[in-house]
Amino acid sequence: MLIWIFICFVIFNTISVLWKKRWLLYHAWKIPGPFSVPLVGSPFLLSATKDNFFDLIYGKLDSWRPVGKAWAGSQLYIATTRPTDVEKILTNCLNKSPFYEHFNDVMKDTLLTSKVSIWKEHRKMINPSFNSKILNSYHDTFVKYSSEMVNYLSDTEGEEQTNLLPVIWEKTLDVALATLTNVDPQVIKERRRMITVTVKFEEILIQRFHTFWLLIDFFWKLSNLHKEHKVVCQTVHAFVENILLQEYKSYDSEDINDDTIQSKQFLPNLTNLKRTKQITREEIMDETCLMLTAASETAAITINTIFTFLGIYSDIQERVYQELVSVLPNMENSPTQEEINRLDYLERVIKETLRLVPTIPFILRYVDEDIKCDPYVFPAGSNIVVPLVLLHKNPDVWPEPEKFDPDRFLSDEVAKRHRCSYIPFSFGARNCIGLRFGMMEVKIMVATILRNFKVRTVGMKSWKDIQWEYMVMLKVKNSRLRFEKRKF
Ligand code: HEM
Repeated sequence: MLIWIFICFVIFNTISVLWKKRWLLYHAWKIPGPFSVPLVGSPFLLSATKDNFFDLIYGKLDSWRPVGKAWAGSQLYIATTRPTDVEKILTNCLNKSPFYEHFNDVMKDTLLTSKVSIWKEHRKMINPSFNSKILNSYHDTFVKYSSEMVNYLSDTEGEEQTNLLPVIWEKTLDVALATLTNVDPQVIKERRRMITVTVKFEEILIQRFHTFWLLIDFFWKLSNLHKEHKVVCQTVHAFVENILLQEYKSYDSEDINDDTIQSKQFLPNLTNLKRTKQITREEIMDETCLMLTAASETAAITINTIFTFLGIYSDIQERVYQELVSVLPNMENSPTQEEINRLDYLERVIKETLRLVPTIPFILRYVDEDIKCDPYVFPAGSNIVVPLVLLHKNPDVWPEPEKFDPDRFLSDEVAKRHRCSYIPFSFGARNCIGLRFGMMEVKIMVATILRNFKVRTVGMKSWKDIQWEYMVMLKVKNSRLRFEKRKF
């Protein structure tokens, strides 16, 4: 008898889920994709492991161009590489896919992860911290920490750098602390540890994502991975808590003056808004956690990838160097902002690197209302994947898409392309708030280092020899660099 009740229960539940999702099933059916069992999943996802995850997803998406779909459990994912679809999606769908909920344990209500209603309020509060006047005032800080990188490379000259990323990351974290907060980076002793646990957090997230049973909360909470995850989250919270304490301490010692009260710098600004109860302490903690990681990790990975490309393409590096010599002839002087702005070729190199290897390779959005992208409808309730990593190599837009050619970003060439054919910082209202900050920082650090050093990669002839590691962001896995001091 009990067995029959159970069977009836399962049948009833299945029919009710199918009925609720009928709209999704109807439209999904028309979209091509690999074999998938609707509401259960695509068998190819079961073969994903930590090491093959990126290649597997990349390969599958590539074979369904320009539009394809797959089911992961009851979640429908639709991927598109058509710039017109991308513009519609990023303009109309501001809510993030449920995938971003995986970040909730360390940063819940943040710009990156929150629902539109909270995001709108926070973005309005945080936008002024990224206006031109404030960003320009960070120029000297970018230069200072770039010079520290030069010192590090001078001290280790001749050594093969097989793990440069954490070193650059520590500098970009220092930059983030020195610009976004009032805290002296030297006071925060656990910066290296924060980097290690951030990497651990991402590894756990990816491992959980491709182990389907760990996606079920019940099994996840019983797993050893969950225990490790809890320790990681506690460490991150302690780090951010310490920063807030140091920030508030700095106000005490300065006897808050009008400048501090009116400051639009990120953390002082949010602290002021807390005084008028527009934001809570928990929200500030979460936003600070996001901002410090978003600002430091993305920039460090991008810089490391640029060095790898320039180490491989020595002719392009030479052109960058000639531009540096002509714009910054005097080594004694620090570069001014006006000089940095004149480094056009270097800027094209950065853009071309982010085309071939977007540091954030996938953007996910949630569809609240049906979106028509002929001949398909992307139905309400589905998730859209914008694979930047493929969008930027769409052969209809980019001739010889696999070739590293910075001159694709000459202004005449840019004018020929759809504005959503290249979006390493995303697009629309919910794009990267740190776009200009990031570009300035990356450009100054790469310029300062390449003015002093020649970089070479060991054992790589083409960028196809680079192996990639996908941990939410796309990193060089087999990085082997050598820096040789330039003779003057
Ligand atoms: C230099 C390399 C950078 C790249 C390639 C990059 C790329 C991106 C991308 C693609 C997104 C959209 C993510 C998504 O929707 O899933 C994003 C969002 C974001 N980025 Fe960046 N970013 C960079 C640097 C920065 C910096 C320097 C900061 C802060 C100073 C920053 C802060 C943020 C924040 C807060 C968001 C969420 C914005 C929102 O939803 O309102 N990023 N970034």
